[in-house]
Amino acid sequence: MTTLDAALSGSFAIGGDLKVNRLGFGAMRITGKGIWGPPEDIEAAKATLRRLPELNVDFVDTAESYGPYVSEELIGEVLAPYGKGTVIATKSGLTRTGPDQWHQLARPEFLRQAVTQSLRRLKLEVIDLWQLHRIETVTPRADQFGAIADMQKNGLIRHVGLSEVSVADIKEAQKYFKVTTVQNMYNLVSRRAEDVLEYCEANNIGFIPWRPIDGGNLESTSAQYKAIMDKHEASASQIALAWMLKRSPVMLPIPGTGKVKHLEENVAAAAIKLSDEDFKTLDAIGRNA
Ligand SMILES: NC(=O)c1ccc[n+]([C@@H]2O[C@H](COP(=O)([O-])OP(=O)(O)OC[C@H]3O[C@@H](n4cnc5c(N)ncnc54)[C@H](OP(=O)(O)O)[C@@H]3O)[C@@H](O)[C@H]2O)c1
Repeated sequence: MTTLDAALSGSFAIGGDLKVNRLGFGAMRITGKGIWGPPEDIEAAKATLRRLPELNVDFVDTAESYGPYVSEELIGEVLAPYGKGTVIATKSGLTRTGPDQWHQLARPEFLRQAVTQSLRRLKLEVIDLWQLHRIETVTPRADQFGAIADMQKNGLIRHVGLSEVSVADIKEAQKYFKVTTVQNMYNLVSRRAEDVLEYCEANNIGFIPWRPIDGGNLESTSAQYKAIMDKHEASASQIALAWMLKRSPVMLPIPGTGKVKHLEENVAAAAIKLSDEDFKTLDAIGRNA
């Protein structure tokens, strides 16, 4: 029988004091089409959230813009009061005007409104990890970063993360607050954030790859990939996740789904231990894809 335990992925202490199992959950997919409105099957989405603590998934990533609000509301409804050690990470810095429409907005008053409303929806007194979804281009960076530092000083947020940033962005933000996580797109075949990952590893910053299970359909284009899947009796996405977990001790993948079956499949990847040779083979396949 497959072992379903996110703790098998190992742990990472966000900001040095928030210890979570490295394989987390992305809560963007418990919303409607275009990440807009409620999910098509709300009972399936709620069942997926209920299953998280049973599988030791104690790191959940969401954002006020998912739905908007739907993802945070469902998390608050189903998971609060949260189990000891559970970390709900949320974000703001994007506003929504319709399905699939995302606009950057990080004016200080908007960020403060977002944080205070996230606290209400998530039924929290402090947000353990709050992430700036995007560094906005119109509002001066000093205003955005200064507002975040103020919210941290005021006790609304504990740790701060950034999303879709460069190494230079991280260094600039660190003049205002300690950057504890970075969330950039990264997976076996999308490696443009490699330098950011290396910076995070060198500085013990959690790296949260979004779109983690996109393996670029490698099972049908690479016989070597298919052989590694067969050896581990694993699916393509499970191998992609296992590779990700071995890639770095600061890697915190957050595969997203609104289905219990898919959640269980993703958590099962934590039990897959790739050999160094398999890891290198997959690395080369991904880079050349
Ligand atoms: N910071 C950012 O800018 C940013 C951007 C995008 C996402 N994110 C975060 O990253 C998380 C993950 O990203 P993502 O959702 O785009 O990508 P992902 O986790 O790589 O893939 C999710 C997609 O794969 C499907 N899926 C999940 N598990 C599966 C399985 N075992 N078998 C088959 N299909 C499966 C899901 O559909 P089903 O629901 O049908 O399972 C969904 O369509 C999000 O939930 C969100 O928290 C952040």
